[in-house]
Amino acid sequence: MAELLGGWKRDLRCAEVTEKDIGKELTLMGWVSRVRNMGGILFVWLRDRSGLIQLVFDQDHMDEATYKLGESLRGEYVLAIKGKVIARDTTAINDKMATGTIEVQVHQAKLLNEAATPPIYTEDGMNDNEAVRLKYRYLDLRRPSMQNMLKLRSSTVNAIRTHMVSRGFVEVETPVLTKSTPEGARDFLVPSRLHPNEFYALPQSPQIYKQLLMLSGLDRYFQFAKCFRDEDSRADRQPEFTQLDLEMSFVEPIDVQTVVEGAFHEVFKAVKNVDIALPLPRMTWKEAMESYGSDKPDLRFGMKISQHNDWAKDCGFSIFESAVTSGGTVCAIKAEGAAAHLSRKEMDALAEFAKTYHVKGLAWLAINEDGSLRSSFAKFIAEDKMAAFLKTMDAKPGDALFLIADKRLTALTAMGQLRVRLGKQLNLIAPDLYKLFWVTEFPLLEWNEEAKRYTAAHHPFTMPMEEDFHLLEEHPEQVRAKAYDLVLNGVEMGSGSIRIHSSDLQEKMFSLLGFTHEEAWKRFGFLLEAFKYGTPPHGGFAFGLDRLMMMLIGTDSLRDVIAFPKAQNASCLMMDTPSTVSEDQLQMLHLKQETAPDAK
Ligand code: AMO
Repeated sequence: MAELLGGWKRDLRCAEVTEKDIGKELTLMGWVSRVRNMGGILFVWLRDRSGLIQLVFDQDHMDEATYKLGESLRGEYVLAIKGKVIARDTTAINDKMATGTIEVQVHQAKLLNEAATPPIYTEDGMNDNEAVRLKYRYLDLRRPSMQNMLKLRSSTVNAIRTHMVSRGFVEVETPVLTKSTPEGARDFLVPSRLHPNEFYALPQSPQIYKQLLMLSGLDRYFQFAKCFRDEDSRADRQPEFTQLDLEMSFVEPIDVQTVVEGAFHEVFKAVKNVDIALPLPRMTWKEAMESYGSDKPDLRFGMKISQHNDWAKDCGFSIFESAVTSGGTVCAIKAEGAAAHLSRKEMDALAEFAKTYHVKGLAWLAINEDGSLRSSFAKFIAEDKMAAFLKTMDAKPGDALFLIADKRLTALTAMGQLRVRLGKQLNLIAPDLYKLFWVTEFPLLEWNEEAKRYTAAHHPFTMPMEEDFHLLEEHPEQVRAKAYDLVLNGVEMGSGSIRIHSSDLQEKMFSLLGFTHEEAWKRFGFLLEAFKYGTPPHGGFAFGLDRLMMMLIGTDSLRDVIAFPKAQNASCLMMDTPSTVSEDQLQMLHLKQETAPDAK
């Protein structure tokens, strides 16, 4: 039977009670975590978001009804008590509990609510299937680790907000019902009762709004923005996520980067007590790709990639030679001291792994302690040639080398993935290391082989680098953008750019992306027109708050840092979303569906 509070008022949260309160009469409320019945005396752990405190129901200190109530308590019952804080007997001190030196001698109790046996554990350290945890997320969130995550997320948001406001940024909310814009992912569309056959789109980001706010003269904008992208979920991707989104007027990249690094510095200081040295290091996209085979390299370990075309062009091994003659590359990495840990079987598994990144194969070589070689390709290469290669690689007994020959970016990308896999497999990644830095000078465009046209590497509003303007007509693929990504431990935290602020250049960009003049005006007329009314030079950035939380908590799944996340297939297991709706609702929206509404 649920009771009302009936005038009882909570004095403190459970774990806020300290030795200073010894002797005080307090009213406490929370959930029953555990009950131990010692016969005539009950020890009950009461829990709330602050932690636990031990309650003592002693038959000799209370009336019979209260003791009976104590005996009826079960896990997750909601309880209120009045009692006196006392010191625990020295033999009963619990070092593992924050309130382990005290307990509360209960005089009165009220059962505020009963609880059915929970289908999952509400304690940490107990394993439950993730799908069941997501179905009962409200119970999963009772775990102390999840409560801490929510609190940490709140302090992170506060630290960022304080930083932004102190730097003169104004927080503005932008619409969630908006127009489909080309940010690369698919849109979630929303039909409308008032507009048959027309759709709103949920924003992939507030990109256009924030640019328009610069045109309006706001100068510095920020927002914790909900973004929606209908893309396949991955551990670091959710269909619905939060960005810290910002935009600034009259700026160069360094101005935007300074604000962003400052925010990261403050968060890491506040949350992890880690001092990130500023300004952050910078690396161009070209260097990142050539040295690490990734535009978001993990710099917590070395194993840089090197290229060996001069050596390979006449090395005797036809696969390497033809990669060079056809304009590709032969690249290599060295895993120091790894030879003994990599059996033939493991080498084959690594080769299979590399092939999933579209390369034809992986050549490997391990130097035994006595200097002899085990290798998939050494037999094709003359001894002196091989010696020259080992010298260039500074390879020593015990080292393992890996080579990939293919088209340049394909080979580098596969090697980059192999590097990360080896880094993990060989335990080269030091824990508690935060390698945060900027990757700059991204290409402006990417060639889309399927569509046979260019797409914007970042988004279509990104300004080309002035130095490369002359390449726009003849060699658009070589043009670099004034775009920059922030990378932390191999994860892209955020990206941004200086934007195009003239309608002529914006139209030129749309035409490079294959839009006709008419199409560009149909989709973006409002923006092209807006640009005519005095647009200041501007630029901005957005980083994924969820991804930042992932790094701060040290997990590799976004589901661990979002209160109510979507499962891998983008559904919400708790509310059973998406779900069917009634025929009437569909009719009102002028929609027809293919299967009957109750087919699901
Ligand atoms: P971009 O698309 O690179 O840029 O997104 C910025 C950051 O948002 C996070 N992010 C995601 N997080 C979780 N799940 C997802 N599906 C997801 N997609 C992106 C990442 C990413 O780095 N408007 C531009 C920014 C700008 O130019 O100012 C934008 O949205 O951390």
